[in-house]
Amino acid sequence: MSKLLISPSILSADFAKLGEEVAAITAAGADLIHIDVMDGHFVPNITIGPQVVQALRPHSHLPFDVHLMIAPADPYLKAFAEAGADIISIHPEAGPHLHRSLQTIRDLGKKAGVVLNPSTHESVLDHVMDMVDLILVMSINPGFGGQSFLPSQLGKIAKLRRMIEASGRDILLEVDGGVNPQTARDCFAAGADTLVAGTAVFKGGPSQYHANIAALRAAKD
Ligand code: DX5
Ligand code: ZN
Repeated sequence: MSKLLISPSILSADFAKLGEEVAAITAAGADLIHIDVMDGHFVPNITIGPQVVQALRPHSHLPFDVHLMIAPADPYLKAFAEAGADIISIHPEAGPHLHRSLQTIRDLGKKAGVVLNPSTHESVLDHVMDMVDLILVMSINPGFGGQSFLPSQLGKIAKLRRMIEASGRDILLEVDGGVNPQTARDCFAAGADTLVAGTAVFKGGPSQYHANIAALRAAKD
């Protein structure tokens, strides 16, 4: 396996220039645009809603990888789909019917993702693997950028890689939180094929974005 996709998290971008920032990381070689949606309830921080996603849509041709840290998520799935999300990922703790929520995302014509908090067991996926296009492993507690990578999640990444192989389905295995050129190597070695990074991509400003993304992608070399 050699695929390694980079999904910069715009949580670390300059929010006063969000459109320019999305265009800059697109030009710098990103594969996806990771958009962190927080509600101040499911996680202790508030970020952006569908209106901002819609405003960003013309600034990149890349898929929008929308990570919903909101509860409930179901009432907002349609709004994010219509705003231009391509992948919509939800936490199983955000609602009582994970299968139904994933079905809703797929019925909206979007790819569906499930996000596992550090304490969430991979068995939550056992009966929904046929509904999933992406699995996102949180390697920090969600809510804020700039936290340290939790190595305890590497074993979970390896287990999920085996589950994906056994399913025979084309499912992305993404890691989010504390990803830098060093931890990216550990994630790739454990079986991840998609890496989210905020701090590591946006540090140094636009002139560094290309080099920062390249340094993460080098994890597969
Ligand atoms: C946190 C978000 C992450 C965050 C990662 O809840 O899901 O996407 O932006 O930031 P870094 O890469 O700085 O850990
Ligand atoms: Zn995220």
